[in-house]
Amino acid sequence: MLASAASRKMSGIYKPSAENIAKAAHKLEQGGLVALPTETVYGLGADATNGQAVARIFEAKGRPSFNPLISHVTGLEQAEALAFFPKSAIELAEAFWPGPLTFVLPRLARCKVHPLVTAGLPTIALRAPGHSVARQLLIAFGKPIAAPSANPSGELSPTTAAHVLKGLGEDVDMILDGGPCAVGLESSVIEVTAEDVFLLRPGSITAEDISEITGQPVKAPTAEIKSPGQLLSHYAPNARVILEAEEARPDGLMLGFGDYDGDLNLSPSGDLREAASNLFAMLHQLDQRRPKFISIAPIPNHGLGLAINDRLVRAAHSS
Ligand code: TXA
Ligand code: MG
Repeated sequence: MLASAASRKMSGIYKPSAENIAKAAHKLEQGGLVALPTETVYGLGADATNGQAVARIFEAKGRPSFNPLISHVTGLEQAEALAFFPKSAIELAEAFWPGPLTFVLPRLARCKVHPLVTAGLPTIALRAPGHSVARQLLIAFGKPIAAPSANPSGELSPTTAAHVLKGLGEDVDMILDGGPCAVGLESSVIEVTAEDVFLLRPGSITAEDISEITGQPVKAPTAEIKSPGQLLSHYAPNARVILEAEEARPDGLMLGFGDYDGDLNLSPSGDLREAASNLFAMLHQLDQRRPKFISIAPIPNHGLGLAINDRLVRAAHSS
């Protein structure tokens, strides 16, 4: 028997009508993945406050590690509820938003963005995209949308809806077609402190464009902030991390998975999406109890387990 239109799985390319934008916002609300056009490249979007939805982004891209993602917002007002904006960051946002400029700023305590989006870092990357379809979706959804470029890990960034369909296919619930991207190059990424602006990733908004607004030269990032992958010491636990453990040490705590239970369990049912979404928060929670050791149950090394293990191996080496 044929499935009814309503029960058929939604996927594929949709024209950005008001009705489809409302549908896409609903998909996001349900924890789905929506590919959205921006002026730079197509993004693979999920509700930035929903850890399991964000875990699906990493799953779909096949990323073997948890890089921090950009949270997309409607503008400064929404962004200022998430991060601390020094004066120069406000001036830059007023000059270039909406547009291809991403800010890395300190997260506020009340920031609702899930720690998987920021990979457990104390900072958050924010951008208000200029593409009208992205803006309409952000307004309809009303919350930040986490979105890396909508391509499988290691492949070229997509600049048309057809590229997204070819690369990610049915892993995306809906692809909104906003035509070819005007810029075709990922946004410039800057980290802004009270004193300085560091250019982390060059893009179409140049260092010259930025210093024209701030009246100061833009700095090259220090080795420490250049690659967030190298920022591990920031979220490495103080405790010694022991991998593939079947039980806790006498003076330690245990982070369980599946049938290997512990003081906390990443996913009692052994679900890797749930485990990914709990990873950073649970490591922090256990570490705050200041144990000597944190023993971690074995995590299967496939799918999202690869990225989880990547992070755990780094945590074990730096502790
Ligand atoms: O144009 C773009 O920026 C596209 C569209 C979809 O908006 N998005 C994009 O996202 O390129 P993604 O995830 O591929 O790149 C995010 C960049 C990475 O270089 C990442 O390392 C950096 O932003 N980033 C994110 N959060 C960071 C943080 N807290 N500290 C330092 N760098 C961060
Ligand atoms: Mg990318």
